[in-house]
Parts: sequence; C-alpha cells; structure tokens
Amino acid sequence: MMEKPDFGAPKVGRGTRNAAERRAVGGTLHDPKAGATATPTALTRSCRRTDRESVRGLAVRLADPRAIPACLRDHPEWVADGMTRYYTDAEPESCFVAAGDSGVVGYVFGAVSTARRDRWVAARVLPGLVLRGLATGAGFRCPLGQMLRAGLRGWRRASAAKRGLRRSHPAHLHVGVCEGARGRGVGRLLVSRFVEHAANAGAPGIHASVIASNGPARRFFEQQGFHELRRYAAAFPGSPDPVPMILFGRRLTSKQDERAGRTGALG
Ligand SMILES: CC(C)(COP(=O)(O)OP(=O)(O)OC[C@H]1O[C@@H](n2cnc3c(N)ncnc32)[C@H](O)[C@@H]1OP(=O)(O)O)[C@@H](O)C(=O)NCCC(=O)NCCS
Repeated sequence: MMEKPDFGAPKVGRGTRNAAERRAVGGTLHDPKAGATATPTALTRSCRRTDRESVRGLAVRLADPRAIPACLRDHPEWVADGMTRYYTDAEPESCFVAAGDSGVVGYVFGAVSTARRDRWVAARVLPGLVLRGLATGAGFRCPLGQMLRAGLRGWRRASAAKRGLRRSHPAHLHVGVCEGARGRGVGRLLVSRFVEHAANAGAPGIHASVIASNGPARRFFEQQGFHELRRYAAAFPGSPDPVPMILFGRRLTSKQDERAGRTGALG
C-alpha cells in the first residue's frame, strides 16, 4: 500500500528523534544564499502542499548549471516544472522535507516506480512545458525544437543507462540540502525517510544519478549504503559536451520482509 500524502502535522516528533536527528537539529542552520535561517527545530517530515514552492525553488537553485540552458535562466517556473512537477504533483507521498522555523532547508523526492514517472512525464509534463514555453515567450529565446531535441537526447541516454534496472531498482530519488545546512546529517535523515517509504511501498531497490565530478554527493551516497551500478555519459541541455554520470543503487528490505525473515542483501 502506498503511503498517502501527509498534509498534516509532522510525523517526527520529539519523542521519536534518534541520535542522527538530534545531531541534525542541534544547531542553527543558516543558508546565506537563500537568506533562510533554520532554527534548532529543523525536522524531516512529509511534504505539505505549502512546501511545493520552496521545494521547486530549492531544487532549481541546487541544480547543476549545465542542466539548465542559459536561455532558460530567466524562466525558473518553466525549469521547475520540468524538474519537479511529477514529484510534487503526482507523487507527493514520496516527498519529504527538512524544515526549520524559517522554512524548508532540504528535500528528498522521487518515484517508487520510475516507469510510472516516465509515463506521467511524457503524458503530462512535456505537453505542459511546450505550452508554457509558447505562452511565456521562453520558446522564442530558447528555440523549442532545439530544446526538445536536447531533452529527448538526454532522456534516451539516461533510459539506456537504466536499462535492466526496472526490476531490480525501480525506485529513484533526488536529494538536496541548502549549503548552510549541510554536514549536519540532514541529507542522511531525508534519504532514510525515502528509503523506508520506498521499501514499505514494495520497491526491491532504489537508484540515484550523480554527476561523477560531484565528490561530496558520491561519498554521501556510499555512506548511505548505495554502491556504483554503472557509469554513463548524460546529455545536459545546457552543456555542449556529455556529462559523466554515476548510477548508484541500493537494495531494499521492507518491514514485512524483515518480519518474514526475508533479509534481501543490501547493495
Ligand atoms: C549531497 C548532499 C545532499 C549531502 O547533504 P548533507 O546534509 O550535507 O549530508 P549529511 O550531513 O547527512 O552527510 C552524511 C554523510 O555523507 C558524507 N558527506 C556529506 N557531505 C560530504 C562532503 N562534503 N564531503 C565528504 N563526505 C560528505 C559523509 O560521510 C557524511 O557522514 P558524516 O557526517 O558522518 O561524515 C548535499 O551536499 C547537497 O544537497 N548537495 C547538492 C545537491 C546534490 O548534489 N544532490 C545529490 C544528487 S541527487
């Protein structure tokens, strides 16, 4: 059974915090760029409807610049639709945030079934991007045909790299933490929320794509029990050259599996 979106009170309360959580909330988190200061009450919780804009904004701000062509930098809403609309609108139950008193300082979102995400994006996100591009004029500064071709090339390369993972690692995630809130265990807490959710939804494995030159993110995923599955060259719409990527994977065991003694190997 898929967990329903929780638009109510945070699920992680004082009494349920573990050591890592206490470490994450143990100091003032400050994000100088976003001007956000999260107090020591920063917690991970399910996304609420009111988190949508913060999650979209943070995801665009933390994206690698090569993922966003220069001609689209003045159209963050367009970019956010492409990057996050599926996650915030179609599968909000798989979205978790770390939030302090002053707002969201980190997010994890993803899909329990990447195949379902792909179908939804093709049917709902892509047509919306074309229409919005025409309506906002983004299509004139960024030739739409060129953009769509670049997007399709990227999609094909990523899909080819992920071939064979549909059964073993059908879920995927994206995680991001404000610069000023890093190194306090926030990312770890967010990923563990998603891992638990995906396992309980029945996904046998999860994957995440990381730019090969992003050393901190590579170490981060390795530390969370992920290991390198394969490498591929991604086509980013804002980069003339292919971008080397690493696909990380982790096998999952649900609580039901644990109770039944099925302890699927990690990795
Ligand atoms: C990757 C990212 C999510 C890590 O978030 P974070 O909250 O700083 O990570 P945590 O504090 O939970 O770190 C957990 C572990 O990851 C590793 N790690 C995290 N940041 C690291 C860094 N800069 N260098 C080396 N190891 C690092 C450490 O092993 C750490 O454990 P430790 O503190 O016990 O040593 C964050 O740096 C980020 O948002 N980066 C930009 C977006 C991105 O690259 N996302 C990943 C691709 S989807």
